[in-house]
Amino acid sequence: MLITGASAGIGAALARVYAVEGWDLILTARRERALQALAGELAAGGATVAVVPEDLADPAAPRRLFDAVAARGLTVDGLVNNAGFSRTAGFLATEPEVQAAMIRVMLTAPVELARLFAPGMVERGYGRILNVASLAGRMPATGGDTLYGPIKSFLIKASQGLHLELRGTGVHVTALCPGYTLTEFHDANGTRAEVSAAYPAWMWQTAEHVARVGYAACETNRPGVTPGVMNTLLAGLAKHLPDRLALAMVGGHAKRLKRI
Ligand SMILES: NC(=O)c1ccc[n+]([C@@H]2O[C@H](COP(=O)([O-])OP(=O)(O)OC[C@H]3O[C@@H](n4cnc5c(N)ncnc54)[C@H](OP(=O)(O)O)[C@@H]3O)[C@@H](O)[C@H]2O)c1
Repeated sequence: MLITGASAGIGAALARVYAVEGWDLILTARRERALQALAGELAAGGATVAVVPEDLADPAAPRRLFDAVAARGLTVDGLVNNAGFSRTAGFLATEPEVQAAMIRVMLTAPVELARLFAPGMVERGYGRILNVASLAGRMPATGGDTLYGPIKSFLIKASQGLHLELRGTGVHVTALCPGYTLTEFHDANGTRAEVSAAYPAWMWQTAEHVARVGYAACETNRPGVTPGVMNTLLAGLAKHLPDRLALAMVGGHAKRLKRI
């Protein structure tokens, strides 16, 4: 199982789940030290773990990962596209390079990695592709983190298409759509204080829970899963509201976070 963004949060939690379920792992992210620490922990539990540091904002990274795995003689039967981050300063206040990196890490790299590794899975008649999207991808767009939701919507739809295309091949494809999850995500985008103040503790889920739900959904080959009853209700509500009302609802969310 190749897991991107395994150095923290949901990716690290997924690595622990897959290790417990008997998978050998290839862990990637930029922070090698964190990956090595996790690899040591998982190896102590009996898993075979390889660490391949990469920056997925680099356009050459997916191909380099594919080649590095092949050079080690490893077979990839599972791919978790999890690496991601957001920026909430607003479209015009975010550097174009950062926007390009968001698109590369969360959209282009997952597509390219699936395109590189899925053929082998189909050939062997077995595979798992778990794309970590977001509840944001099921909600109307928000001002502030303008690109994040659309990128995640893309990943959900692309997962649905691939899920249909690979049905019957033994390769499962699932989009995991977590809501607020306790990880480094909101520290990395600098919104920890405001989201903690705006949203009560019961709205937050642990990375371990989200990982378990994602794992189970992919094993049963569900096209998508949203952990948490409240998150599922919110996404359902947004889907059935007229666009204007749905945008107003999410506008309230952005105001609570003082983004617009
Ligand atoms: N936390 C939430 O509330 C939440 C909700 C819905 C969806 N999600 C999604 O869940 C996924 C995991 O996020 P998280 O919550 O676990 O956040 P996190 O704790 O900040 O972890 C993000 C992971 O992505 C990796 N990453 C970021 N930029 C990268 C790059 N350029 N190249 C390679 N790896 C990179 C980070 O590793 P390095 O820094 O070591 O590179 C880290 O391992 C993301 O796709 C996120 O959009 C999160």
